[in-house]
Amino acid sequence: MTASAATRKKIESLREQIRYHNYRYHTLDDIEIPDAEYDRLMRELQTLERDNPELVTADSPTQRVGAEPSGVLQTVRHRLPMLSLDNVFADDELLEFHARVAEKLEFEDGAPTLSYSAEPKLDGAAVSLLYKNGSLVQGATRGDGTTGEDITHNVRTIASVPLHLLGQGFPKMLEVRGEVFMPRAGFEAYNKKAREAGEKTFVNPRNAAAGSLRQLDPKLTAARPLDMYVYGVGLVEGGKLPGRHSEIISKLQEWGLKTCPESRVVEGVQGCVDYYYDIGAKRDALSYDIDGVVYKVDSLALQRELGFVSRAPRWAIAHKFPAQEELTTVEDVEFQVGRTGAVTPVARLTPVFVGGVTVSNATLHNIDELHRKDVRVGDTVIVRRAGDVIPEVVSVVKDRRPEKTKRVRLPKLCPVCGSHVKREEGEAVARCTGGLYCKAQRAESLKHFVSRKALDIEGLGAKLIEQLVSEDRLADPSDLFRLTREELSSRERMGDKSADNLVRAIDASKSTTLARFLFALGIREVGEATAANIATYFGSLPAIKNASEDGLTKVPDVGPVVAKRVRSFFEEQHNLDVIDGLGDLGVHWQDSEPMKVAEDGPLSGQTFVITGTLPTMTRDEAKTLIQREGGKVTGSVSSKTDFLVAGDKAGSKLAKAQKLEVSVLDEEGLRRLIAI
Ligand code: IVH
Repeated sequence: MTASAATRKKIESLREQIRYHNYRYHTLDDIEIPDAEYDRLMRELQTLERDNPELVTADSPTQRVGAEPSGVLQTVRHRLPMLSLDNVFADDELLEFHARVAEKLEFEDGAPTLSYSAEPKLDGAAVSLLYKNGSLVQGATRGDGTTGEDITHNVRTIASVPLHLLGQGFPKMLEVRGEVFMPRAGFEAYNKKAREAGEKTFVNPRNAAAGSLRQLDPKLTAARPLDMYVYGVGLVEGGKLPGRHSEIISKLQEWGLKTCPESRVVEGVQGCVDYYYDIGAKRDALSYDIDGVVYKVDSLALQRELGFVSRAPRWAIAHKFPAQEELTTVEDVEFQVGRTGAVTPVARLTPVFVGGVTVSNATLHNIDELHRKDVRVGDTVIVRRAGDVIPEVVSVVKDRRPEKTKRVRLPKLCPVCGSHVKREEGEAVARCTGGLYCKAQRAESLKHFVSRKALDIEGLGAKLIEQLVSEDRLADPSDLFRLTREELSSRERMGDKSADNLVRAIDASKSTTLARFLFALGIREVGEATAANIATYFGSLPAIKNASEDGLTKVPDVGPVVAKRVRSFFEEQHNLDVIDGLGDLGVHWQDSEPMKVAEDGPLSGQTFVITGTLPTMTRDEAKTLIQREGGKVTGSVSSKTDFLVAGDKAGSKLAKAQKLEVSVLDEEGLRRLIAI
């Protein structure tokens, strides 16, 4: 029976698609579809070709794994080809593999079991390392299996790749093969930095490893957190290796090469299945990505007996895990408000099974990233879920974009509390300005509000606050002052005595200082010292509330960014209401005279640093004195510093001041300078 025209067409279309994705993957380093989808296309083509062998052509992508190297780096011919592995996905396919092996080896029932080396299938880039007389002479990518690229300069930058083997007994020529990968933590950290800088992120750790290895400048590779586990050998000349794969791996380890600690020898197919589920259960907790496990017949003699089929050995098989990347569609994009007010876009997805769980939400990190990836409602996207990291939208499959899509904009108002959403210049993250008012931020804000340097309410721990917030008992900080002894003592693990103490502490906290109160409000960038400066400068809350950005920048150590944050906070009516509510419940402090800063005071234009313990005043008091006379106080000594005020145990700042020939004063000297 000859193939129908439809089958021919289907085969041609699959080949075209696969060639295109090979090119994107190998040459452009820029994938468009997840591996799982690529595997499906490949399998579909393989099945059609198997059923219609007359249609197999030499140039079909099934006849060669991989693609041409990109041509930028020097090419390297592998003396022994770097093979690939056949895959199985289900347990029964594994049983079939084992049955084929046992049959070919004429293993009878009742004969001793077959030992396999079981190893994680690392998700990175395959690399060959060539050692001549123990010295690393060449590193190469796998490329198409026959020809790879010379990446010697780059593999040399990987700390776990020995430049010379340890010990003795290694063959004169030894080619080891293994996987270079980027551990998840390094990958996440790299992407976080890139995201904050508005730069392109890596799609996944495998891409990150492959891309890093193919850098032309080894300095760039060196800056990437790469690691390598070796899992086999290629060319071996002038020496002998043991007769079992597992023994070879132990030898490689003795010679200083790094091998995967999860590898072990298992007995028979049952041993393989047990290993698969064992590693599967550990998968999320591993520090690197794996996409399955590999079983290799451990005896080299038996491996030789089994031989190869086209590009893959008959003695090994990869048993894949559920893919960590899958395709799905974006049904909507919503914005979530985090505990610190960060407004994050989240994609609502058509549920998809990925990384072992069903995922229906994925983060888009921030609005810039969303726009850079150009994610729209209706798009087909790749979602990735690996380890404990929250699922993320990795990229859009542009050629599957429907005609009608909806673009996404950053909301102007917080979806939780309705306060304004603001994004400071140069910042990737947009934030809700609701602070204390915003329910999403309530627990965090309240913990800060009661903390030691703020209102200092002893006995009100983080757990209790979280419970009270989740029970909706604390809508804003004023509710703290409405908590009753009866209500508190009826709670689990809270006796009458602790309830009494807590109510007393809450009551006592009502009498506070303006500086503490201002700090307690949790205005971003307004730490304890800044709050104290602002309080001292203005003397009263109304004065602060009404201060302009310009006015605020007159406060010592307050720059334009802090001034803006303070202004935005007091422009939000909700925040003013919260403050009024606190006043109504009796929170109070003593106003002080606004600080008179002598614009042309005796110290104006002079910069001071204070260090060590002064005999009669605290450093803060000294600072206020200096500022009142028009001087500026900064934290570190530089060539711009005019005076260092040094007390006891002055340390490194004093040394630096002496080196830079900055005048050094003691407390007495400072008093003289300002004539008090
Ligand atoms: S053995 C002849 N062992 O999987 C066998 N490969 O599809 C050659 N891989 O390109 C490979 N972990 O990059 C082997 N423990 C492991 C592996 C492993 C990952 C990759 C390797 C290779 C691909 C084969």
